[in-house]
Amino acid sequence: MTAPTTGATAATTPPEAEEVLTVRGLSVAVNDVGLVQDVDLTIRRGERVGLIGESGSGKSLTALSIMGLLPEDITATGSVRLAGVEHDLIGADESRMSRVRGKDIAMVFQEPMTALNPTMKVGRQVAEPLLIHRTRLDRASAHAAAVDLLDQVGIPDPAAAAQAYPHQFSGGQRQRIVLAIALANDPALLVCDEPTTALDVTVQAKVLDLIVRGVEERDAAMLFITHDLAVVATACERVLVMYGGRVVEAGPVQDVFTRPRHRYTQGLIGASNLALVDENGRLSTIAGSVPGGGQFPAGCVFRTRCPQATQECAERPPWTSTGPDAGYACFHPTSPEEVVSHG
Ligand SMILES: Nc1ncnc2c1ncn2[C@@H]1O[C@H](COP(=O)(O)OP(=O)(O)OP(=O)(O)O)[C@@H](O)[C@H]1O
Ligand code: SF4
Ligand SMILES: [Mg+2]
Repeated sequence: MTAPTTGATAATTPPEAEEVLTVRGLSVAVNDVGLVQDVDLTIRRGERVGLIGESGSGKSLTALSIMGLLPEDITATGSVRLAGVEHDLIGADESRMSRVRGKDIAMVFQEPMTALNPTMKVGRQVAEPLLIHRTRLDRASAHAAAVDLLDQVGIPDPAAAAQAYPHQFSGGQRQRIVLAIALANDPALLVCDEPTTALDVTVQAKVLDLIVRGVEERDAAMLFITHDLAVVATACERVLVMYGGRVVEAGPVQDVFTRPRHRYTQGLIGASNLALVDENGRLSTIAGSVPGGGQFPAGCVFRTRCPQATQECAERPPWTSTGPDAGYACFHPTSPEEVVSHG
């Protein structure tokens, strides 16, 4: 992982742009154990939002809740509203969700083969969401649109590629095909969960570029989950930082990466900076590991790993959840200069 750049290249979305995704008080639990707690998130039309945090912090469960794809034994509460969809996505049954998924909201996951049918020609797989959601479209037009989509994501000789099966493509090409399927119906929201992590490093940047371009061309909103802070700095305007199932900090990428307020964010940014070594020459990392299975302490969820924790941190959480970027704080924030020295 490379150090995040401090100047996000993404343009700023006008504040008056329509809210595409509005998540309020999202909590996820299994057998009464809380895995995600009280997440608020707003994404406006044309806005790209990164979601970062160590493994196990609740990023994927948040994304799966938004898409109604949680395993059966996991329950989500709170509210997930999508522009143009009358009902709340939380609690919506599968028949309602299947009308939304692949049309208003689409997703790209880490492993493209899990999204592709190995026994179906890729042209048919790209045409399928068009035929499902656009009832007046005939097969020939859907096929032509599929070939065009394959062309848009840079698949060479797209007409011939449409006749081939997934195993005949490389990992990077398969992820392009998944992207073509996701973008087929011009979704209002694209959710990406580590879409380039499993790919060869040489093709990661190209696939990321295609994702950003595809979203930009459609003026769609994007939620982008990644461990790579440099990717967030390049591709996103805003970022949410999760730890222990909570959003501990949120804000414009440039603010969060240059002036992180929460000790956890400071540690995360320090850990990503390979040039950052302590006085003993060791790389800066966050000490300890994320507790599994929702076993987080009361008060500040980070306090068992935080060198600055005080009694106050044990008594109550330092943040409130009252809006898209509001109220996330640490009881003992540091100055940015200090961040560099303790990571
Ligand atoms: N089906 C499940 N049953 C029980 N616990 C689960 C289940 N799925 C996830 N969890 C737990 O919920 C927590 C959050 O998981 P999640 O997959 O959202 O993490 P993540 O932030 O996406 O991590 P990663 O970066 O490794 O993908 C973890 O402690 C995980 O063990
Ligand atoms: S609130 Fe306390 S325990 Fe939590 S990050 Fe801040 S100083 Fe550390
Ligand atoms: Mg995950």
